Amino acid sequence: MEAYTNISVTGDKGGVGKSTIACLLAEWFNYHNHKIKLVDADPNQTTKTWLEKCEEAGRAISFPTSNITIVDTAGTSGSSLIKYIKDSDLILVPFQPHVSDLEIVVGWFLSLNQLLQEKVKFIPNRLSNTKEQRDGLAELQNIIDNEGRGELLSGLSNRPAVYPPFLNGSKINFFNNNLDEKVKDETTRLFTSITSKTGVMINETESCE
Ligand SMILES: Nc1ncnc2c1ncn2[C@@H]1O[C@H](COP(=O)(O)OP(=O)(O)OP(=O)(O)O)[C@@H](O)[C@H]1O
Ligand SMILES: [Mg+2]
Repeated sequence: MEAYTNISVTGDKGGVGKSTIACLLAEWFNYHNHKIKLVDADPNQTTKTWLEKCEEAGRAISFPTSNITIVDTAGTSGSSLIKYIKDSDLILVPFQPHVSDLEIVVGWFLSLNQLLQEKVKFIPNRLSNTKEQRDGLAELQNIIDNEGRGELLSGLSNRPAVYPPFLNGSKINFFNNNLDEKVKDETTRLFTSITSKTGVMINETESCE
C-alpha cells in the first residue's frame, strides 16, 4: 500500500476539535517514533501555540524534513480550505454530532468533488451517548452510504478534564501519561485506524519513552 503522507484536519466548522485532533495525532506518530511536520494554517494559532509550549518544555514535536505532514486548518469555508485539502492524501473532519453542526458538515462534504470525498474520514468528537447524537451519527452514515464515499471513524468522548488541558502543552508525550483506560482505548482505537489508512507502519511494542 502506498503511504499517505499529507494529512489535513479540516471541515467547514469552528470549535469542533480540529486542533485537538491534529495535536493528538502528532503525539501519536511521535510516540511511535515517526517524525512529523505539524503545520498550523489557522490564524488563531492553537496548534502553533501548543507546539511552542511543548518545545519550551524541552520537547521537539515538528520536524521540517519529515515525510508525514499534518495540517491544522481554520474552520471557515472558502478557498483557503480547498488549498490545503486538495494536496491531502487523508482529510480528517472532526465534528460534533449535533443537528446544526451536521448540516454544515454534510453540506460541505457534498460540495467536494468525488476525489476529495473519497479521502474524507469523519471523526465524531465530544461524544456522549444521547439520542440526538446517535440519530446524528446514523444520519451521517446514511449520507456516506448514499454517496459511496467518505468514512465515519470512531470518535472521542466529551472529556473536559482530559482534552482541554492537553492543549496547554506538556513536557511528556500524551501517550506516555498514565492515561485512564477509557481515554487510552478511545485514542488508540481512533489513531490506529487513522494510521492504518496512511500506510505508515507502527509497532505497538516500540514506542518512545
Ligand atoms: N473530546 C473533547 N472533550 C472535551 N473538550 C474538547 C474535546 N475536544 C475538544 N475539546 C475542547 O473544545 C474546544 C475546541 O477544540 P479545538 O480548539 O481543538 O477545536 P477547533 O476545531 O480547532 O477550533 P477552531 O475552529 O477555533 O480552530 C477546546 O477548548 C478543546 O479543548
Ligand atoms: Mg483550531
